[in-house]
Amino acid sequence: MFDFVTHARSRFPALASGYIFADNAGGSQCLQTVADRITDYLLHTNVQLGADYAVSVESTRRAQTGTAAAAALFNALSPSEIALGPSSTMLAENLARALEPNFHSGDEIIITEEHEANGGPWKKLAARKGLTIKTWHPRSTSPENPYAIALDVLDLLPLITDNTRLIAFTACSNILGSLVPIKAIVRAARAKAAERGARKVEFCIDCVAYAPHRRIDVQDWDVEYCFFSFYKVYGPHVSALYARASALQASVAPLTHHFLHVDNVAYKLMPGGLPYELAYGLTAVLPYLLSLAPAGVHAHNVPPEQISISDAGDALQNAFDAIAAHEQTLLEPLLAFLRAQAPRGVRIVGTEDAGLARVPTVSFVVGGERALHSRDVVAVFDAKGGIGIRYGHFYAHTLVNNLEPKIDIDDAVVRVSLVHYNTVEEVARIIQILEEVLA
Ligand SMILES: Cc1ncc(COP(=O)(O)O)c(C=O)c1O
Repeated sequence: MFDFVTHARSRFPALASGYIFADNAGGSQCLQTVADRITDYLLHTNVQLGADYAVSVESTRRAQTGTAAAAALFNALSPSEIALGPSSTMLAENLARALEPNFHSGDEIIITEEHEANGGPWKKLAARKGLTIKTWHPRSTSPENPYAIALDVLDLLPLITDNTRLIAFTACSNILGSLVPIKAIVRAARAKAAERGARKVEFCIDCVAYAPHRRIDVQDWDVEYCFFSFYKVYGPHVSALYARASALQASVAPLTHHFLHVDNVAYKLMPGGLPYELAYGLTAVLPYLLSLAPAGVHAHNVPPEQISISDAGDALQNAFDAIAAHEQTLLEPLLAFLRAQAPRGVRIVGTEDAGLARVPTVSFVVGGERALHSRDVVAVFDAKGGIGIRYGHFYAHTLVNNLEPKIDIDDAVVRVSLVHYNTVEEVARIIQILEEVLA
């Protein structure tokens, strides 16, 4: 019988040591197949792209399969809608620069208080052009826990006016762990914008904390821009930005050299070209994800490197359903333990209950009469060894800074972030250490 976790773990050499990786929202472990492809590229096809000699033809083909694989992960219509770059933060900043000429005086941008990657570029754009920034704030979801907060579309809609030009939000919070219903939000926001007579509204979705846990579908969501980073999705340090073809034509100015022909392709967002070997390396992520789909969709004895990109489609949804189901088994005991520690002063920062609207990225603070610094909680884990968790604001600085009652921004929250290759035994070990810390 197919053992999901055993199969998954066998693909990550780093997991063989038994070390418990529980800082995955910071960065996941890397697949053997990803490293193999990067090595193969560098050792056998490391030449400049675009020439007519045989090795260059092959290196060009390999790099292009990177954008095709990323396109499949976004469910984009075409690889020409994909830009690759060193980080999501840089891609979002590039996007803001490229959109700048298309923003007019009086335009309004709505952002959320999440990771600064999808906030900072828009705030800076607004400052450069004298535009208005509005913030869609999270609301409290529990009378007992002030840190149990989540975004609600009801708080977004009143912010939309005839001047709304861009709505930038985060599909999954890297602190709160909560998922937002993207399709429903976009639909409601577009209807409200049309009712208000807005000239043009576009959406930019940060999927960095979402991509390891759920399937992205930019067509179904009806969004113009979306990005995520492969180093959180079992791949190398390279990130991908989706820009819809029509938006590339109508809204995006080129950042590239004036003599390059980039009219309606996402290459216009790439002033400097592809990271060749990483583009080829990331192509191993999709076959791996497909290999996680339940038996019957893909035979598990097919090596991931032999599964083709064009096979994606429903199989990818099945794979993410299997990922989500396993991740719930990790999330439930951890949240149950933390909720039971409420009398001890433990407060979950984010959605308190397990369920499919949440991923296993779990943040908390220890307050009350016997309050503990987050750094001291993590220090106990560090001292025990063999396990990696972390504390901080994780670049969701505004979100953490605006929590009420206030918490020290430098100490911020303890975060345990798990993914599908973590095991229930690992969660039991984390709980065991937390029991000691809180005793
Ligand atoms: C939700 C979220 N958005 C954006 C980023 C930034 O990604 P990158 O490091 O690729 O710039 C992160 C990184 O932690 C994140 O968690």
